[in-house]
Amino acid sequence: MKKVLLSGVKPTGRLHIGNYFGAMKQFVELQNSGDYKCYFFIADYHGLNFIHDRNEMKRLTLDLALDYMTIGLDPSESILFKQSDISAHTELAWIFDTIITMPYLMRAHAYKDAETRNNEINVGTFNYPVLMAADILLYDTDVVPVGSDQKQHVEYARDIAEKFNRIFNETFKLPEPLIVEGVATVPGIDGKKMSKSHGNVISLFSTTDEISKAVMGIVTDSDAGIPINVYNIHKLFVNDSELKKFYDENAGKYKILKERLVSDIDTFMKPLREKRAEIASDKSTVIRILDLGARRANETAAAKMAAVKKAIGVI
Ligand code: ADP
Ligand code: TRP
Repeated sequence: MKKVLLSGVKPTGRLHIGNYFGAMKQFVELQNSGDYKCYFFIADYHGLNFIHDRNEMKRLTLDLALDYMTIGLDPSESILFKQSDISAHTELAWIFDTIITMPYLMRAHAYKDAETRNNEINVGTFNYPVLMAADILLYDTDVVPVGSDQKQHVEYARDIAEKFNRIFNETFKLPEPLIVEGVATVPGIDGKKMSKSHGNVISLFSTTDEISKAVMGIVTDSDAGIPINVYNIHKLFVNDSELKKFYDENAGKYKILKERLVSDIDTFMKPLREKRAEIASDKSTVIRILDLGARRANETAAAKMAAVKKAIGVI
């Protein structure tokens, strides 16, 4: 029996190279290893905490499906689906709500961050880890490839599984996060963690102009003529020894270093841009793939929900 691997991304904006190198590239490699039964989904109900506009939600969801397929997620190898198509996710989250406590959820980093930024947090943001635990546990997931910022959420899923198993009966497997060292946190153009919400991104599939604009905006803190932020982004695209040589030869010449970075990113993006345009020209196929994925995911999720309902005594 293959191990089960599952991960998801929220459709809340354009993907950036932090999402790609931190998480999504691994999705493709793990899928292609043939070692796992893979589920990749679009976390639209998580995204609903941020997007309250129907057209925007539709657009971002379809965009993310196109992105998934462009980077190499393959519906003949993986089950690709939309979270909202499987109502068991929200149903199971409710059941978990009844066994976990508010102080426990208040310890989540994401909640604490949201609280320092906002006076009033919606209940969905507070409950975010519970829905994520349901996403993971419904499929008997063994491993969850994510960026390091999501590690705590996977630990919450483990805790919730353990608690459920203890209170009712052994129903859930305990998942592990899978975090690739070295790219665990991709820095943004300001040197802080690259994130949609920090406005410091280099977008995936960006045009040459967009790449150039982002790269020219990289803050150049330098150490002996090596601009650290430029280097740290550059090393995602070029191997270390080649890069080190080039930076040593051009120490202090920021314009040359940045121009080379633009060119290396553009070389990487060009085939991705082309492939995305091709996939985007046939949206009905993408929609069909998600429908098929939903049917397949639902078979597993429904069987698990039946076991859960038996365990809690409602059937
Ligand atoms: P953002 O912070 O831009 O809103 P998301 O929270 O939607 O990104 O993250 C989607 C996936 O990409 C998650 O698995 C997350 O861990 C990963 N990720 C996001 N930003 C980075 C980064 N800067 N470095 C590494 N991984 C990241
Ligand atoms: N919280 C994740 C993020 O912000 C998205 C997500 C939702 C997820 N459910 C998941 C990731 C289940 C892995 C497994 O990126």
